[in-house]
Amino acid sequence: MDSSTLYSENYRKNPEIVWEEMRNDFPVFYDDISDMWWITRYDDVKDFFVDYQTFSSSTYELTTGQVVGPTLISRDDYGHVVRRKIVAPDFVGNRLKSYEKLIEDCVTDLINRFARSNEISLVSEFSSQLPVDVISAILGMEGDGQLFRQWVTEMIMGLSDSQELRQKGLDASAAFCSHIAPSLNEVDSPQRTDHIAKIARAEIEGERLTKEEITAFCGLLFIAGGETTDKAIANMWWNILNHPETLEAVLDDDSLWTNAFSETMRRTPAVISEERFTTKPVELHGFEIPKGAKIRACLASAHLDPTVFNNPLTFDIFRPDLHLGKENRSGVSKDPGRSGHFGFGLGKHFCIGYELARNEAIIGSQMIIERLGMPSLQKNQQGPVIQARNSFFAVEELIVSFQK
Ligand code: HEM
Repeated sequence: MDSSTLYSENYRKNPEIVWEEMRNDFPVFYDDISDMWWITRYDDVKDFFVDYQTFSSSTYELTTGQVVGPTLISRDDYGHVVRRKIVAPDFVGNRLKSYEKLIEDCVTDLINRFARSNEISLVSEFSSQLPVDVISAILGMEGDGQLFRQWVTEMIMGLSDSQELRQKGLDASAAFCSHIAPSLNEVDSPQRTDHIAKIARAEIEGERLTKEEITAFCGLLFIAGGETTDKAIANMWWNILNHPETLEAVLDDDSLWTNAFSETMRRTPAVISEERFTTKPVELHGFEIPKGAKIRACLASAHLDPTVFNNPLTFDIFRPDLHLGKENRSGVSKDPGRSGHFGFGLGKHFCIGYELARNEAIIGSQMIIERLGMPSLQKNQQGPVIQARNSFFAVEELIVSFQK
């Protein structure tokens, strides 16, 4: 196999064919275009996420670290554990529940804007808007979604290697920081129930986040929780609209949206791959990957590994190997028989916003259908519109009609 295959139009449209070849014949593949090693089999991807001492997340120092500043995502040390204990509790259990009303309000605002049209552009009018609106509101800045969207788009572009885009990203990040700055004051006021005040007040083992760390974490929330959730919602709608029996099932029983979300995260995960640096030489399938090498784990390929999932290419919300259990969803299952998807990662850096993203996707979808009725894809939208773009599975646009 030639590295150029991974950058071809063919790969973008049908990455599954390339991943199958890689899992079968090149389980460790050196990509000489990007100077990195790919791994694609389920067990190898699992080890990659779990063994943080060998596979270091310091890769993020060169991307998000440059644009938003230092955050927990690039740390493997105990500092990561402390920071995670400060920021993560707001996104689970009862504290997350308190954000449900806020999600509903954001969804209602968006639906009010398009409810009168016969068809909606689900990506531009809904999935790309909701996650940024929700994070703005969680930070206590509801209504600022439009402002943040512009900066965050440029910050994400600034993660690339291009000097010009990096500079744009840095400029956007500076504007973003100035906008956040006033919220870093008076955080002890009892009226403040927003996420910024909560993480500013939190103290774990005598440590608190500095103002710079709080601002950087806010930037990370948008970068990690914006485009990812956008793609997950759109991919889920693409899947249900292209599988009439699934659409019928979720319309009959709306508790099945959770299955549709999990199966989307397996079959067409928003994030396709993650990267790490090796901290020591790694022997794998007869190859020696040197210390300091960049390694890319293709989790979307791991989800299609037939040694783990039956008929892996089939989108099936009733599959027995979907594993919806909470322990699996939170990435902590130690039971080797319960192999879930890695769409939110696994282990130390497991996604902090996994339940928030699920809630946005499910609450948002249920509310749209309740208000607008039965959805269907505009005719010329059928076809292979879901593609591997950079490290995302994404659909450019979904024009959806509704019938009461
Ligand atoms: C469907 C939507 C989402 C997907 C697919 C997703 C995916 C991921 C993945 C794969 C990781 C692990 C990264 C790694 O190991 O290198 C991760 C980490 C993270 N995610 Fe998400 N994410 C989503 C939504 C969110 C949301 C809504 C938020 C917050 C509001 C968020 C915040 C984070 C943070 C802060 C981390 C870093 C955790 C750490 O380093 O300990 N994500 N996400």
